[in-house]
Amino acid sequence: MWARILANRIRLASFRLTAERGKSTAAEQSTLSGTKRTARKSEHTNNGTLQKAILGSTEISRAHLTPEIRLHLLTPNCPLYHAPAPSTTNGDATFAEPFWSIFWPGGQALARFVLDRGDELLKDESVVLDLGAGCGAVAIAAKLRGAGHVIANDIDPVACVAIDMNAALNDVQVSTSSENLLAKPYKADLQPADERFDVIFVGDLLYDEEIATVLEPWLDEALRQGTRVFLGDPGRHGLTDKLRRKLRKLETYELPDNVRRENYGFDSATHWLYHPSFGLAHPLRISALLELHSSFR
Ligand SMILES: C[S@@+](CC[C@H](N)C(=O)[O-])C[C@H]1O[C@@H](n2cnc3c(N)ncnc32)[C@H](O)[C@@H]1O
Repeated sequence: MWARILANRIRLASFRLTAERGKSTAAEQSTLSGTKRTARKSEHTNNGTLQKAILGSTEISRAHLTPEIRLHLLTPNCPLYHAPAPSTTNGDATFAEPFWSIFWPGGQALARFVLDRGDELLKDESVVLDLGAGCGAVAIAAKLRGAGHVIANDIDPVACVAIDMNAALNDVQVSTSSENLLAKPYKADLQPADERFDVIFVGDLLYDEEIATVLEPWLDEALRQGTRVFLGDPGRHGLTDKLRRKLRKLETYELPDNVRRENYGFDSATHWLYHPSFGLAHPLRISALLELHSSFR
C-alpha cells in the first residue's frame, strides 16, 4: 500500500543515497531533487489544479498526536493509500513523492510539544521556520500558539500548496517557501535588516544521512546566530551518536497505533533541543532549559 511504500522509501533513502555518495554532495543532491521535482511539476502551473488533486486524493484527518489540527492526509479511506505503486497514479507527478500527505512521527512529536508548551517558547514577534515542513502541521501549531511570522519551507512545491490548504483548514496564515535553504550555509548573506529566525523546527528530516550531514553545520550556524533549534525524530538513521551528543531530550511521545503501523514499528518519537553544549541524558524543565539556552548566546 502506498502509505507504507512511502514510509519504506524514507527508511531506504539513506541506503540509496549512500550508494550514490561521491557522485555529488548532499546539498547538491537536495538541490538536484528539488530541481527535478520543480521541472516535473511545472505542468501544474495552476494551484487550483493541484488543490483539486490534493482534495481528491486525501481526506481530512485528526488521527495523529495533535487531533486539534485538521490535515489533508492520505488515510486508509483514500484509494491512493492502497495503490500498490506510484505507477498506478496515472502518471500524475503530483503524487510521485507525496511526503506532504503523511504526518510523520518526528513532526507529530514537535507539533504536540508546540501545542503543549509553545506558550513558553513563542512570542508575538517570534519568526519561526518549519524546515522540511511536509504537511505543515508544526508551522500550524506554532501559529496557533501565537508565533508572529511562521515560514513553512519544503523543497517540494506541491507540499507548499498542501501547507496553504492545511493552514486555511485551521484558520491560520503561514508563509511557504520551496527554496532549498540547505544548499548554502545558514543565512550566509544575511544583512542586518534581514529577517532572522528566532526558532527553527526540524521534523523527521533525519531519514536521510546525507541531509543530516548537511543539516548539522547549518544548524550550528543558526545557533551561533541566536536561533533556538528543535528536532523531532522517532530514531532514524540520521540520528547518529555524534548528533545525539548535541541533543537534549525534552519529551518522548507514544505514537498512536495507526502511526506505528505506517511507520514500520516506530513506537515513539522524541522532541529534542539542539544544542552542541548539551550532551546530557536526562530531561530538564523547558523554562530552565530556555534560560540555560539564552545564556549560551
Ligand atoms: C519525512 S518528511 C517530514 C515532513 C514533516 N516535517 C513531518 O514531520 O511530517 C520530509 C520532508 O522534507 C522535505 N525535504 C527534503 N529535503 C529538504 C530540504 N533540503 N529542504 C527542505 N525540505 C526538504 C521533503 O520534501 C519532505 O516533505
